[in-house]
Amino acid sequence: MEHCPFAQTAEIAAALRVWHTRIDDPPLIFDDRAAIPLLSPGMRQLAKPPLPFFTMQLRALEGIHPELAALRGQTVTRARFAEDALDAALDRGCRQILILGAGLDTTAIRRPDVVKQATLLEVDHPDTQRWKRARLPPELARSVSFSAVDFARNGLPERLLEARLDPRRPLFAHWLGCTYYLSPETIRTTLDSLAQVVAPGSELVADYWLPSETLGWRPSMLLRGIGLALDTQHQPLLGCVSSATIHALAADSGWQVAEDLDAATIRARWLAGRRDSLSVPAFGHCLRLIRK
Ligand SMILES: C[S@@+](CC[C@H](N)C(=O)[O-])C[C@H]1O[C@@H](n2cnc3c(N)ncnc32)[C@H](O)[C@@H]1O
Repeated sequence: MEHCPFAQTAEIAAALRVWHTRIDDPPLIFDDRAAIPLLSPGMRQLAKPPLPFFTMQLRALEGIHPELAALRGQTVTRARFAEDALDAALDRGCRQILILGAGLDTTAIRRPDVVKQATLLEVDHPDTQRWKRARLPPELARSVSFSAVDFARNGLPERLLEARLDPRRPLFAHWLGCTYYLSPETIRTTLDSLAQVVAPGSELVADYWLPSETLGWRPSMLLRGIGLALDTQHQPLLGCVSSATIHALAADSGWQVAEDLDAATIRARWLAGRRDSLSVPAFGHCLRLIRK
């Protein structure tokens, strides 16, 4: 893989969404088979439908250790939460869609209806964006606008205005799988920067992870294990924050909390009655903010 510090986590998130379509039971929470052509050959190989025996074994293991399936569940439930909010925004007449920290997001591929009726802008770290654009077929690359921003260095308002975002019209944005890689200060500046250039009523969906010291033993061990694995990829977990902290950061930047789903609510909304081994981690929250 060409050098790109964030490519690995972006690709793992996409591969987890594809895996959901391969090993979990219908109904799918989020169908992202569109991501398959964007995966590297090795990951694509892993995303092939497994033999039924393997699926059975995996489910048995995940039944005993639900944390093994938790990241897959977290990745698809946050994607579904954002997709439902996107559809509601389109129904309200919102025609500006912004995807922050896009990674291998496939909205441009899966949703020709969005591309047709709204402007779609992807923002990502310059390295990740270059890496993704090299994987997109040219006709798809033309259906979406791209803007390169390092959240840690800011410049978001200027880049969004250069990309012709209209600050007088409402916007829908999502920012998935990103906050925990950023320091609380960078989360604050990003929320603040976005608030500066969007119309009141605009919406932002994001997810965040609670700090390990606030969790029980098993989720705390899982989060610490993920942190150690990410350290080896030079992508440390910098911004695991409490609900009180992220709500305060949002409020200070002019955002009102419309919804904050904890793990129990996420489980009740999307996992109740499922017979597969999908689960979600106790530390994952889904957040929906509205610009005041
Ligand atoms: C785990 S991926 C999530 C991608 C996608 N949103 C998803 O849910 O599949 C994390 C994303 O955050 C982006 N990211 C991390 N740190 C960043 C920074 N400082 N500036 C801009 N983007 C950043 C990465 O480039 C990557 O696309």
